[in-house]
Amino acid sequence: MSKKIYLITGGAGFIGSNYIRYLFKRYKDIMIVNLDKLTYAGNTANLKDIESSENYIFIKGDICDNGVVNKVFREYHPDYLINFAAESHVDRSIGNPDDFIRTDIFGVYILLEASKELGIERFIQISTDEVYGSIEKGSFTEESSLKPSNPYSASKTGGDRLAYSYFATYGLPVIITRASNNFGPYQYPEKLIPLFVTNALEDKQLPIYGDGRNVRDWLFVEDHCIAIEFILQKGKVGEVYNIAGASEKENIQITNHILELLGKSNSLIHYVADRIGHDRRYSLDASKLYNLGWKQEYEFGDALKETIQWYKENSDWWKPLKSGEYLEFYKKHYGMEL
Ligand SMILES: NC(=O)c1ccc[n+]([C@@H]2O[C@H](COP(=O)([O-])OP(=O)(O)OC[C@H]3O[C@@H](n4cnc5c(N)ncnc54)[C@H](O)[C@@H]3O)[C@@H](O)[C@H]2O)c1
Repeated sequence: MSKKIYLITGGAGFIGSNYIRYLFKRYKDIMIVNLDKLTYAGNTANLKDIESSENYIFIKGDICDNGVVNKVFREYHPDYLINFAAESHVDRSIGNPDDFIRTDIFGVYILLEASKELGIERFIQISTDEVYGSIEKGSFTEESSLKPSNPYSASKTGGDRLAYSYFATYGLPVIITRASNNFGPYQYPEKLIPLFVTNALEDKQLPIYGDGRNVRDWLFVEDHCIAIEFILQKGKVGEVYNIAGASEKENIQITNHILELLGKSNSLIHYVADRIGHDRRYSLDASKLYNLGWKQEYEFGDALKETIQWYKENSDWWKPLKSGEYLEFYKKHYGMEL
């Protein structure tokens, strides 16, 4: 059997880089092409240990650029495309949605067109639980209606449904995944867990929105990576799969847990004005994926400990990220200096 070629878009970001590392841990006989624009969230340092591998190629490029995407397809003839590339931070989408609409919808269209014209065995669109919107009680199944409520989740919904339309209209072998909040190593320190861990490590305040009681389901990034690969191999084309961590927590619970594990005082907690349009609770029913045979491998508490340990040991990775534009955004957004 010839080597399978994976085209990973957005592979220099948090989940994409973890997925690439997972693939190389699991398979010897694959080729990975990583196409990434290297926005503020993309970082080649995420894959330092892999960049010299002869089975890995990095291309700096924009998924919205038809010329670049077509060139990559013609040169490497990928078997699988896994699209992680996105603008991914809700807070940034509220002030500045342009890039979200461009990358998370138009970029998906460019990738779908190239796949339709030049061929692909599987197209995995990495969507999110945020497309369903908020739910007070119970959990969303893949059949639930989509009610995104911020520019990030609305753009992701556009990409999600556009990908489905290429299956329904052209028979493109698309599968869509909708995962809950990820955490783990290499997550940009603007997202809740790495932000709070790194702030606490430096004895800085932890800005928590509103009453701190918004609920998210937390999924360890390695479990997410295992699930994506499982779905790529075993999932049915045209289907959507929810991927849950089965660990719903209020933000304040996570915050207290982090402070406890770090041995820091909860006087570091600082309540700030709530995010506008803040979804109260996300919850996924992932029975469809469990019935297909996927099993979660990590327990939340252990995975959080492992993640905290990684941030403790890798301040060389995160300290340089908390500078420049990051500090300006932080001040404007939370109304406080870092
Ligand atoms: N982080 C989560 O909790 C979570 C949960 C569910 C789904 N998702 C989805 O998973 C995917 C990856 O999320 P993440 O947290 O790793 O995001 P991230 O912000 O860490 O990484 C995104 C990557 O995409 C790249 N990128 C952005 N625009 C691009 C463009 N136009 N062309 C090429 N590359 C571009 C960036 O440079 C970066 O490397 C996203 O699609 C996101 O919506 C994330």
